[in-house]
Amino acid sequence: MRLFVVSNRVAVSTGQSAPGGMTVGIEGALRAHGGVWVGWSGKASTDGSVSSRCVAHGNVDYVTLDLPPEKFQGYYAGFANQVLWPLCHGRRDLVAYSSGDFESYLHVNGLFADELVRRLGPDDLIWIHDYHLVPLARALRARGVGSRIGFFLHTPFADPDDLFDLPVHGAIAESLEAYDLLGFQTRGDLESFRTFISRSRASRRLGSVHLTSPPRADVFPIGIETAEFESTARAAQIVDTRLSAIFDRLGSGIAAIISADRLDYSKAIPEKFRAFGAFLELHPEYEERVCLVQVAPIGRSEIPAYALEAARTRSAYRDLRAAHQRAELPVAELLTESVDRPSLAAAFRRSRVGLVTPFRDGMNLVAKEYVAAQDADDPGVLVLSSFTGAAEELSGGALLVDPREALSVVRALRQALEMGIEERRARWSKMISVICRNDAAAWAGNFIESLRGRREAPHLRSTSIAPSRDAPRARLDFRAVRTAQSSWEVQAVSDRARHLVVGRAAPGDGARTAFVTNNAGVNEFLLRVRSAGYTTELLGPNGPVKL
Ligand code: F6P
Repeated sequence: MRLFVVSNRVAVSTGQSAPGGMTVGIEGALRAHGGVWVGWSGKASTDGSVSSRCVAHGNVDYVTLDLPPEKFQGYYAGFANQVLWPLCHGRRDLVAYSSGDFESYLHVNGLFADELVRRLGPDDLIWIHDYHLVPLARALRARGVGSRIGFFLHTPFADPDDLFDLPVHGAIAESLEAYDLLGFQTRGDLESFRTFISRSRASRRLGSVHLTSPPRADVFPIGIETAEFESTARAAQIVDTRLSAIFDRLGSGIAAIISADRLDYSKAIPEKFRAFGAFLELHPEYEERVCLVQVAPIGRSEIPAYALEAARTRSAYRDLRAAHQRAELPVAELLTESVDRPSLAAAFRRSRVGLVTPFRDGMNLVAKEYVAAQDADDPGVLVLSSFTGAAEELSGGALLVDPREALSVVRALRQALEMGIEERRARWSKMISVICRNDAAAWAGNFIESLRGRREAPHLRSTSIAPSRDAPRARLDFRAVRTAQSSWEVQAVSDRARHLVVGRAAPGDGARTAFVTNNAGVNEFLLRVRSAGYTTELLGPNGPVKL
């Protein structure tokens, strides 16, 4: 049994992470468990087709795909990042939905599914990551894949009301229901998911058809490679030339307040600059004693909202410097390129405050990395937005703030900068023990064990019958499950299952849908499935059954 991890971004074989928390977490998890990591290569295919390559690095095989540019655009810059991303971050005002983008999104998910089908063995476990790939399990089931498939959402789960406003909310719900196990960062995300699914199921329930219970879902807060990051921070020098020049200028007389975020409207970077300006106005004694160092690599720049956010960020930065820059000493620094991880780790260790203030964030692994990077004898203080997943785990030690309230950031900055060594150590110990216990390997281990531990046959999944308009509405006790194309493990469906009816929605349809009865009324049941438009065959626990 191998573990297949699938995500849009892959930290390809160099071991160098692409910006973003997801690859950091997955890389740690895969290093601990070994397996295959499948994702986008970062390149467009030249002739419109898909090409893939595989590179082995340690115990991980990296399979990357070049994707056709015309489809990639609608998939990545379209549906993933102009519909799902803003919805998941409470910005429905930024949603730009188009049915063409949704088709591209499904198409690219289908390409990932094709690639996986070529490589998967029957016992392999599949773990799919993030909002780019929600429909992938459904696409795999449609291709007859019977493996257990799990999904982890790295972002917050969208407000169910917002999701319901999407014309394709039903397809999203059914895609989510194609998984054996879904993982979320926080209890709040899990609750939102459950609300969305139960409302969606209510709207899809037809007559007296009972759907099976919803897929299993739980909270699995993602972790980092804590020990590895700590030792990197302890040993590393800042080799990034821009960052090292900044820290050289600060010397030991100016305390660094550090932030590292992908430049995104969810991260509230302009608001952070303004809050820092307010701090200096209210506490002028800190002028020339502190410097805000913001690392903010630019990405997704083909999307208008990101170009705008980059402009807002630069303008807030200019305003801050115009108002507070004195003499030669820097008041704030903004780096819009990515920085290598060892340099970042070393800079975190040298910074008195980690300032992590997004409006909304699934987890925010930078918060955890800042904690991991600290010197146990003289740790810095984490100032953390309450609206991050990390706040749920780190509330015992971090100073929690509301990024919309500049004054709450101002108060926390002052408290952080004036905090005595004893309190800093006490707060840090609480946080480090959490992130040591729940590191990347533990996170992955928990998820994988839970996925493996599923009692029911993994290749059987819930689906609903789509009845023809005049289908009978008789009450029947059955479960409807989507199955693999070839092998049936009927006895594993459920202890009470008596018969399995296998139907095809259309001749030549690769996917078969199984309808399981657990009562004796199989004739009536069969009739019902047929009247829903399926051609059928009947299987019993030991194979085909003739009626
Ligand atoms: O979960 C969020 C995520 O998928 C993370 O990988 C990272 O924060 C970011 O989005 C990556 O963004 P992109 O792949 O668009 O650069």
